[in-house]
Amino acid sequence: MSAKPKNSPVTTEETMADDELLKLESKYCSWGDTVHYMENPPLFKRCNGSYLYDGEGTEYLDLQMWYSAANFGYANPRLNNALKKQIDSLPQLACQYLHEEKIRLAAKLAQRMETTFEEKGRVHFNVGGAQAVEDSLKLVRMHSGRSLVFAFEGGYHGRTLGASSITSSFRYREKFGHFGERASFIPFPYCFRCPYGKKKDSCSMYCLKQFERLFETEYYGVVNKKTNVCEFAAFYVEAIQGTGGYVIPPQGYFQGLKKILDRYNILLVDDEIQMGFFRTGKFWALEHFDVTPDMLVFGKALTNGLNPISGIWAKEALISPKVFGPGSTHSTFSSNSLGTAVGLEVMKLIESSRFATEIPKKGEYFKARLKTLQKKYPYMGDVDGLGLALRIEMCQKDGSTPNKALTDAIEEIGLSGKLSAGGKKRGLVLDVGGYYKNAFTLAPSFYITEKEIDLGIDLFEEALIKALKRF
Ligand SMILES: Cc1ncc(COP(=O)(O)O)c(C=O)c1O
Repeated sequence: MSAKPKNSPVTTEETMADDELLKLESKYCSWGDTVHYMENPPLFKRCNGSYLYDGEGTEYLDLQMWYSAANFGYANPRLNNALKKQIDSLPQLACQYLHEEKIRLAAKLAQRMETTFEEKGRVHFNVGGAQAVEDSLKLVRMHSGRSLVFAFEGGYHGRTLGASSITSSFRYREKFGHFGERASFIPFPYCFRCPYGKKKDSCSMYCLKQFERLFETEYYGVVNKKTNVCEFAAFYVEAIQGTGGYVIPPQGYFQGLKKILDRYNILLVDDEIQMGFFRTGKFWALEHFDVTPDMLVFGKALTNGLNPISGIWAKEALISPKVFGPGSTHSTFSSNSLGTAVGLEVMKLIESSRFATEIPKKGEYFKARLKTLQKKYPYMGDVDGLGLALRIEMCQKDGSTPNKALTDAIEEIGLSGKLSAGGKKRGLVLDVGGYYKNAFTLAPSFYITEKEIDLGIDLFEEALIKALKRF
């Protein structure tokens, strides 16, 4: 037996102390993910309902629920049981064979699309969100024979190479070479900070007119005016921008956009990875705007964060076996049986719940409480929300200049687990997004109670007061 190297850490105990774990992490885990955005990343041991718990048992109210992947509450017993049941029946199966849960889940999703949008289509599964986005890009290319697409400034579609090419942040592409087929990024109707300096009440949708202008002459570079052929095959949208800061567009924008796209046979691809499955109070966020997508991408909450399943739905003409034949795309874990079993249970849970009325009601209560707080603190420059997708944009005292430092301080104070609202030591889990990284994107559990919303408001105010003392 070879001698143990000197200074080798002991890694054989059943559990390890936090400081020992953090030492190992800093040495052996890649720092390429988002953990080290933070100086002192927290280490959690348990989760339940709306709460995470650290090693000392401190309770953290989570108002971001894994970026909306755990919509139905942590450790949801019904969904966990679906997973456990599947573990005892068909826990593994190569994706080239069929199983009941996959077929029924695809049918439920496609039938939902039929009743909502009156469109027939099919579903193709994958694992992560970005992978499903990749599949959708393949479908766009296969259908059109072209590879250029439009996407929004502030849009986020994932970090694989293809998904990065349609995500507006250069930061995500910077170190990875030239992205020849990077999307053309169009300003999103972000009315709190209108990219054209207009006011929502009087702009007459100026941003839409600017997009339409691209098609006015062939010299603006997107369309052949003699044939009406457009160089761009699709427009990737998030109906409510997720990572971009839960930005809600005005009514009328998407209807106007779709009209322009239809004129030039440009597909509308709706990325519902973050906002789908009732986050906004409707099954799909795009439903708020009375527009039918040609393709839709989903992920995250379909399995409540258990074995992941993502996927695409596309209109029959785009995905029929004649055009998207066997082997067009594949991934080993794409329709894994554990994930499809949970996904099917999520669909049944949705069918037996009253989310369409409960979520808007809870969202309105939460938004009203935030707006009251905003009156006290002008630093909360913008408060808005649709269903349980809520935003607080942190600003300087003028209520408009972005204040990233204050945002970061509040986030850090929440995660330090040293707040005391509600009478005991607590933490608050918030997620930061937005163009200026100054927006809290709130995505609480669908089962959050009014009492917990009140607690969230108290914890947020306590963190805000503590943070203001630093400046
Ligand atoms: C709208 C949207 N699209 C795509 C993705 C990428 O999904 P994933 O992180 O599962 O690859 C995300 C993730 O946050 C998202 O919010």
